[in-house]
Amino acid sequence: MSTDTQTEYVVALTDLHRGLDRKGPGDSDFSRSILSNLSTLPLKPRIADLGCGSGASALLLAQHYQSTVMAVDSSSVFIDELKARAKQLGLEHLIRPIQGDMAKLDWSAGSVDLLWSEGAAYNLGFEEALKIWRPLLANSGIAVISELSWFTDDVPEPAIAYWQNAYPMMGSEAKNIDRINRSSFSLLSTHRLPSHAWWMNYYGPLRERMQQIETTPIIQLVIRETEEEMNLFEKFSDFYGYTFYVLQTT
Ligand SMILES: C[S@@+](CC[C@H](N)C(=O)[O-])C[C@H]1O[C@@H](n2cnc3c(N)ncnc32)[C@H](O)[C@@H]1O
Repeated sequence: MSTDTQTEYVVALTDLHRGLDRKGPGDSDFSRSILSNLSTLPLKPRIADLGCGSGASALLLAQHYQSTVMAVDSSSVFIDELKARAKQLGLEHLIRPIQGDMAKLDWSAGSVDLLWSEGAAYNLGFEEALKIWRPLLANSGIAVISELSWFTDDVPEPAIAYWQNAYPMMGSEAKNIDRINRSSFSLLSTHRLPSHAWWMNYYGPLRERMQQIETTPIIQLVIRETEEEMNLFEKFSDFYGYTFYVLQTT
């Protein structure tokens, strides 16, 4: 893909996700249940949501802790949506929307107590994300990072072939735990996002949007690829999905 086509592709992908509350699979109750077990944080933790999209997690975290959330995304469209949603929910005072690169944050070392990143670490690669984000965290800081993961070693060929092309660095949970063990984090727990959350909160609304959006050749391409991804998940969701890794700095 040439750089121009790549840019056009990202614009089309962003357009397809415009107005959706979630830009990737996730679930508020599932997130709250993870939060309810994080006991070691300060009362008003310093929070960052990296690759925040339009703020599905950032808004939930702000509401949950009544504390400030630094919400970073590279897309100005999604950051504008986040600003509007924060205003609508009366959470403007707790959300710091930042359009920028989550791999190049110039924040002071140790300035974050809780780092949250949902469906976004794959843009850097899980291992690289752990390395780049670790210095941001305070002593005993917590990171909750969701990462597309194989649930078993015995994965059917069509699923392997698809993801080898779409995300070659995708690893099994065991491989990701190995990556964690080699980083300066220790693993506290893992949680698999249930497949129904993919359909209810992400693929369902996305499918509706696919039927409504005015199409162009590049949008048609993005829609075809998204349908392929959904068909694969429909068949093989027992074999892969998002695992949330709850980590603490060592
Ligand atoms: C699958 S979406 C998930 C968004 C959000 N966490 C959610 O669950 O709704 C991944 C997000 O990462 C953002 N992103 C990709 N690369 C990025 C980078 N280098 N820096 C900041 N954001 C990035 C994209 O713009 C997109 O909003």
